[in-house]
Amino acid sequence: MAAQLRAARRRGHALAALAVAAAGGLLAAATLGSGPAGAAGTPLRDLAEAKGSYFGTAVTQSNLGNSTLTAVAGAQFDMVTPGNEMKWDTTESSASNFNFGPGDQIVSFAKAHSMRVRGHTLVWHSQLPSWVGNLPKTQVQAAMENHITTQTTHYKGQVYSWDVVNEPFNEDGSLRTSPFYNAMGSGYIADALRTARAADPNAKLYLNDYNIEGTNAKSDAMYQLVSSLKSQGVPIDGVGLESHFIVGQVPSTMKANIQRFAALGVDVAITELDDRMQVPASAANLAQQATDYATVISNCLAVSRCVGVSQWGVGDADSWIPGAFSGYGAATMYDNTYQPKASYTSAATALGGAAGSPSPSSSPSSSPSPSTPPSGSGCKVGTQVSAWNTGLTENITVTNTGGSALNGWSVKFTLPGGQSVSSAWNATVSPASGQVTATNLPYNAALPAGGSVSFGFNADHTGNTAAATGFSLNGVACTAG
Ligand code: XIL
Repeated sequence: MAAQLRAARRRGHALAALAVAAAGGLLAAATLGSGPAGAAGTPLRDLAEAKGSYFGTAVTQSNLGNSTLTAVAGAQFDMVTPGNEMKWDTTESSASNFNFGPGDQIVSFAKAHSMRVRGHTLVWHSQLPSWVGNLPKTQVQAAMENHITTQTTHYKGQVYSWDVVNEPFNEDGSLRTSPFYNAMGSGYIADALRTARAADPNAKLYLNDYNIEGTNAKSDAMYQLVSSLKSQGVPIDGVGLESHFIVGQVPSTMKANIQRFAALGVDVAITELDDRMQVPASAANLAQQATDYATVISNCLAVSRCVGVSQWGVGDADSWIPGAFSGYGAATMYDNTYQPKASYTSAATALGGAAGSPSPSSSPSSSPSPSTPPSGSGCKVGTQVSAWNTGLTENITVTNTGGSALNGWSVKFTLPGGQSVSSAWNATVSPASGQVTATNLPYNAALPAGGSVSFGFNADHTGNTAAATGFSLNGVACTAG
């Protein structure tokens, strides 16, 4: 399925790609468990495209050297935002001395994986070289216009959108002071937008900010600004809601806020989604994160002018959060080893991915028959359940305590009555209830002697939220521990 999609995209048949993606929705139950890097089902990008949307991620130049990260990024996401490479301190570190090399590398990566690019960012008070702030006020406008024109001309035809002005507001809704505001007053924003439009008429032009996801003083100010720019005929195509959330704090007014911006006649994008928590992460917070991701994605899908969601970074290991918010982390859909978390599963489900457990026919042929356990096998198992009103997440770690390495594994266990598996990660799990079997995926078939493997599932329950019991590994009973 994914291969057909890539092929359809390479041929430039957008409609064919959509048709294949739509068919994928029907077949997703059969393909769960055998998907490409970073997932147990239909990739997020395919699910998003089938809904006329996209799913993006930030990627930095140093990320490109991590083959695990790039495999997940290319397979799962269809929009890239350069994490730092198109910011002023990189592209024009001294006056009129432009360097587009790092940004070009991100664009090349995107093209190689049939991804689009959100250009980020042209005018921002941060990551701004000191020479701009040191200019006499009378020279700032020319420097800004030269920067915008040179950069947007270089990337003309290669970016879907530009965050023309980034983070213009203070929390109280007043405009933030910056070399641009100080020199030109509030008019710098309209001037920046007009300059970008003149150089690249086809790029969507955005204003982007944080803490404007729900209705509050800051988002009210952005709303008034966009409304006023529209009424003056200033080119403005979209508003970016960064969406750097803390678990459990997605604003209840987010959908209404997206709707009011859309009603002004602009697009809305979720541009930098992450959802941080104190680390080490608790099971309850990871479950809340899954809920939050689903909420954010549903809020966007509910408004046709909300064009897509981008996460800020691929996984917890490359996220900016631990560096920026001391004591916090675990903010993305992928853990430190790029295994999908419960938030990945909930994102896929929110995008319309099949929530059924995989069909037995998708089990890899390399799986051994449980009736012929390799000699010397033995195991111990740990379980962790996090439950909410009608659902739960269970994570299971199985350690091979036998003397031999396993190439393919099969873990049997019994679910408490009333529990029914809706999705699984790092294993195929079937049937959905009663005595079930979790089978390895191609990428985690090898279980060395003394080695462990972790997998998990989401399940519906009717009140009994106990952990599964009666575990065996390749037919040999496990001990708890
Ligand atoms: C962050 C990058 O991820 C970091 O690597 C860098 O040190 C600081 O900036 N809002 C934005 C992004 O618009 O550009 C920021 O990116 C995160 C907050």
